[in-house]
Amino acid sequence: MADPPAPTAHPLDPVTAEEIRVAVDAVRAGGRLPDTALFSTITLDEPDRRQVADHRPGDPVDRRVRLVVVPGPGAAVVEAVVAVGRGEVVEWTVRDGVRPALLLDDAYRCILALREDPAWRAALLRRGVTDMDQVQIDPWPTGHFDNPLEEGRRIARCLAYFREHPSDNGYARPLEGLLATVDGARGEVLDVVDLGVVPLPPGRGGYRPEDHAPLRDGLRPLEIAQPEGVSFALEGNLLSWQGWSLRVSMDPLEGLVLHTVGYDDGGGVRPVLFRASVSEMVVPYGDPGPMHGWKNAFDCGEWGLGRMTNSLTLGCDCLGVITYLDATFASEHGTPYVVENAVCIHEEDVGILWKHQDLQTGHTEVRRSRRLVVSAIATVGNYEYGFYWYFYLDGTIQLEVKLTGILSTQALPEGGTTPWGAVIAPGLAAPFHQHLFCARLDLSVDGPVNEVHEVSFEPVPSGPDNPWGNAMGQRSVRLDTEQAARRDVDPARSRHWRFVNPERTNGLGRPVAYKLVPGPTPTLLAQPDSSVGRRAGFARHNLWVTPATPGERRPAGDYPNQHPGGDGLPAWTAADRSLVGTELVAWHTFGVTHSPRPEDWPVMPVETCGFHLVAAGFFDRNPALDLPPPPGHCH
Ligand code: CO
Repeated sequence: MADPPAPTAHPLDPVTAEEIRVAVDAVRAGGRLPDTALFSTITLDEPDRRQVADHRPGDPVDRRVRLVVVPGPGAAVVEAVVAVGRGEVVEWTVRDGVRPALLLDDAYRCILALREDPAWRAALLRRGVTDMDQVQIDPWPTGHFDNPLEEGRRIARCLAYFREHPSDNGYARPLEGLLATVDGARGEVLDVVDLGVVPLPPGRGGYRPEDHAPLRDGLRPLEIAQPEGVSFALEGNLLSWQGWSLRVSMDPLEGLVLHTVGYDDGGGVRPVLFRASVSEMVVPYGDPGPMHGWKNAFDCGEWGLGRMTNSLTLGCDCLGVITYLDATFASEHGTPYVVENAVCIHEEDVGILWKHQDLQTGHTEVRRSRRLVVSAIATVGNYEYGFYWYFYLDGTIQLEVKLTGILSTQALPEGGTTPWGAVIAPGLAAPFHQHLFCARLDLSVDGPVNEVHEVSFEPVPSGPDNPWGNAMGQRSVRLDTEQAARRDVDPARSRHWRFVNPERTNGLGRPVAYKLVPGPTPTLLAQPDSSVGRRAGFARHNLWVTPATPGERRPAGDYPNQHPGGDGLPAWTAADRSLVGTELVAWHTFGVTHSPRPEDWPVMPVETCGFHLVAAGFFDRNPALDLPPPPGHCH
């Protein structure tokens, strides 16, 4: 008898530690990289739709790993692809004039250089600070402001905070007016600016239990029990639950990524999304002054939501019966490491899904709603972002982003105010700012070829066809080209977008569709010709649609760090390609414009934003009629 077949890989399996080692050895073997080269990202070179669709269990998989290597201290990277099965470098492209996400190595060198810098130490001394261990230094990506000093270099701008004790909340005591520009690759301090001393705010901003004793009581245990276990199954990274199936991975920049999301309503899996992620986000700050006016963090492309991901804790981050997925990443020195419990998977009760009480008979039918939650949390400097993908029993998908953590702060002179922010504590303010996320939705609604239709309700003038003036018409327009598909929300008209498969009809003879229902949807408030306006062009519209094209992954371009702008969606869609008869990617910008409150201090209660993807003619009827009634006496 033959041996049973070895477990075979799926093309979308996450990159493994062994694959990282093979890939790093392969790119180093050629002698084309110095020993000091750093690795910005090492990821699966993801297969395209066709490779995934054609794969059958047991087929050999040509696994490829993509590396972004930083060979020297300047503004250049090498993009390499290694076929790891044979350890062969199959692509090698040098990109000049671009920077990867802020390297942790660079950030560390910035801190070390500043601690020794005479101008920095003198400025601290003017603030009465002599112990360098009491100074928290936060290196930030700098943006791009045509400063010749920064050409060809990898730069971070550094803010400083005072921590009298290591356990202090540094953001409570900004060392205001002090700003340094450092070449992190070379460890060279380029510029130290002292805009003038502002007294330290008096408060400590503590948020630990000992800071707020006595703690409240009266909360009795709330326990979630699933005595028969969970209702989902996880094999490798393939998750299935109540008709849903999807694969889950973690990308160092995008964080959580969902692949091949589909729903089986009895006749096999019907695809909905080939791939979904938050592929960029930007946090532009609205204070125009020299101290804070340059701040606008691209938390994917400049920081990396995946590499900043937390290891989650049962009973704290996630409650109930939890299954975790670990994430394998590579360090900047090319060594694999594992973040344990990076992704939390569980089920939640979310109230009722549907109900009716028949007033004639008194008979009631009610069904509980339950959702499958796939979540991860990233800490990016002062902020936390939780990303929660929800799958519901009626075919709905939701992305909820939870914003928490600590505001980026500024000290004010006693009794001072600012027109560009809000006072949140004595002597402490936080600038107005936005958090603008861009979800990249690689569509596959019931098949690869989709269309995007914009649907709005329209008031109808009174007339012979509308004698009582009550008519409400729905206008649906197919978005045929990329420029026609740069769209914004219109809540008063309930504007939404339908992702339609023109080749598949439902039982009512209509093309099947999912609709994107927007939630909070500000767009970029900075001027279009401002630095951040050029660099975050994606954030100027709530919707963009592009033909699915290899390499078009990041809406602000692959390398937003210190980039002058114009890359990504604005550049691609300038071609105004056709969106008809092809595979499409929808890009949805959403988020919050943050007007800081005293209640956001010293740590923010969660604020949420996101969107829903709702079946809209994908099924022929409520797909959750077959849910059993809750046990007991509900009906
Ligand atoms: Co905020």
